[in-house]
Amino acid sequence: MRNLVEKSCFIFFLIFIICQSVLADKKSLRNQEPCKRLELYYHDILFDGTDLANATSAKATNETALGDFKFGMLIVFDDPITADNNLLSPPVARAQGFYFYDKKNDYNAWFAFTLVFNSTQYKGTLNIMGADLMAVETRDLSVVGGTGDFFMAKGIVTFHTDIFQGAKYFRLKWDIKLYECY
Ligand SMILES: *[C@@H]1O[C@H](CO)[C@@H](O)[C@H](O)[C@H]1NC(C)=O
Ligand SMILES: *[C@@H]1O[C@H](CO)[C@@H](O)[C@H](O)[C@H]1NC(C)=O
Ligand SMILES: *[C@@H]1O[C@H](CO)[C@@H](O)[C@H](O)[C@H]1NC(C)=O
Repeated sequence: MRNLVEKSCFIFFLIFIICQSVLADKKSLRNQEPCKRLELYYHDILFDGTDLANATSAKATNETALGDFKFGMLIVFDDPITADNNLLSPPVARAQGFYFYDKKNDYNAWFAFTLVFNSTQYKGTLNIMGADLMAVETRDLSVVGGTGDFFMAKGIVTFHTDIFQGAKYFRLKWDIKLYECY
């Protein structure tokens, strides 16, 4: 009998320890420093029908008649990514994907794209998606995965609008923070 009590006490103790460490793990991820951090600039030059050589994105669908904020317009891009804010700096990666406008009563976009690295420093991809609440100073999107040098990566990209020259050209500053690196 005594043996049984001891055994069950031990099992309860074990479960308690396991629960504690699982909870501690969850908690520590919140305060954790990124395992990798990249600061990059995204340049989007929208094709106007004439600037074939310079444009890097194009309208694939027109806006709908729903509201006045381009609702439904989809833009596909193959945009250069640079390490500083100069459009003419050598690109360190490309961002390939799309965004579309999806808010009826204000400007708001949704992004889904792959950041493709093919340089001496990095080879691989990061897959990024999320809402770009354009009116907000900084917006967080999710890094949902990666390949190559970024195998199975997960994290957050903080968007900040660096410059906005109408629909023709805009530049975003990206602060990429990875919290899972392998
Ligand atoms: C390409 O577009 C950018 C942004 O509008 C502009 O600053 C730059 O001068 C253009 N370059 C050429 C070669 O047209
Ligand atoms: C968008 O609308 C304009 C004007 O109505 C039209 O000329 C153009 O072909 C349309 N583009 C697409 C991609 O549907
Ligand atoms: C990556 O870069 C190398 C060397 O410049 C090139 O040969 C290769 O085609 C590139 N790969 C892709 C997928 O762009």
